[in-house]
Amino acid sequence: MSVADGFVYRAFDAIDSTNKEAIRQIESGASSGFWITAKIQTQGRGRRGREWVSEQGNLYSSLIYDTKHDVYQSSQLSFVTALAVRDTIAEFVVEEKDIKCKWPNDVVVDQKKISGILLESVSAKNGTPDLMVIGIGININHHPELSSYNATHLNEHNDVLYNPMDVFFILTQKMAYWLNVWQEQGFTEIRKKWISHAIGMGKIIAVRLPNEELEGRFVDLNSDGALKLEIDTNDGLNEVRLIHSGEVFFNIPNE
Ligand code: BTN
Repeated sequence: MSVADGFVYRAFDAIDSTNKEAIRQIESGASSGFWITAKIQTQGRGRRGREWVSEQGNLYSSLIYDTKHDVYQSSQLSFVTALAVRDTIAEFVVEEKDIKCKWPNDVVVDQKKISGILLESVSAKNGTPDLMVIGIGININHHPELSSYNATHLNEHNDVLYNPMDVFFILTQKMAYWLNVWQEQGFTEIRKKWISHAIGMGKIIAVRLPNEELEGRFVDLNSDGALKLEIDTNDGLNEVRLIHSGEVFFNIPNE
């Protein structure tokens, strides 16, 4: 197998981080459509400055992508990527598994996190426009035991042992597909599809923000990708808050 048409690809054995390598590649002139993978990352980066544990056996990949300078496009891209990851995982796990998108860009199987997405924006030194680095990690053969959330890995949910590259080549196809849907039909279509796979919509959730924790009902996904949270105010009225970044926690039986 190989990467989907229109992409180029470079594989590394061990590297600090595929996102960092993508940034270095941009600085030396790489352009949109360039994929990087590594078998091991020694400084895997997660969201909020966290470490992404990156031992051999899982997929670590980054794609350089040109969003044509549009800030809104960058936040939309995170949902485009989550759909591609969700569809990739759906190709490999047994059919009855519940594969959902968790705001903003996680994918969960049986409510456990199986992948992580980290978008970074880069201005190349040589005057070329801003490019996005889309970092995607998918747990294939193992997952970390963490206190902060429940995790899982792909080979826990099928009868065959897949390797990271099997998954990577399908991921490139799914990314090509969803990037094309986004370019042709816009975010409306992405939003609709993401909602159809979302976990927790209509439910009471907790959202952890840098300085506060909110509880409320996850009523909708805004047209810019923000989470709409309906909160009971003390005076008995409801207020809808738009959450642009934060961490979401559920306690959802039977989902
Ligand atoms: C998260 O915290 O959920 C995001 C994790 C993103 C991890 C991926 S692995 C490939 C790419 N390289 C990195 O250093 N991070 C991303």
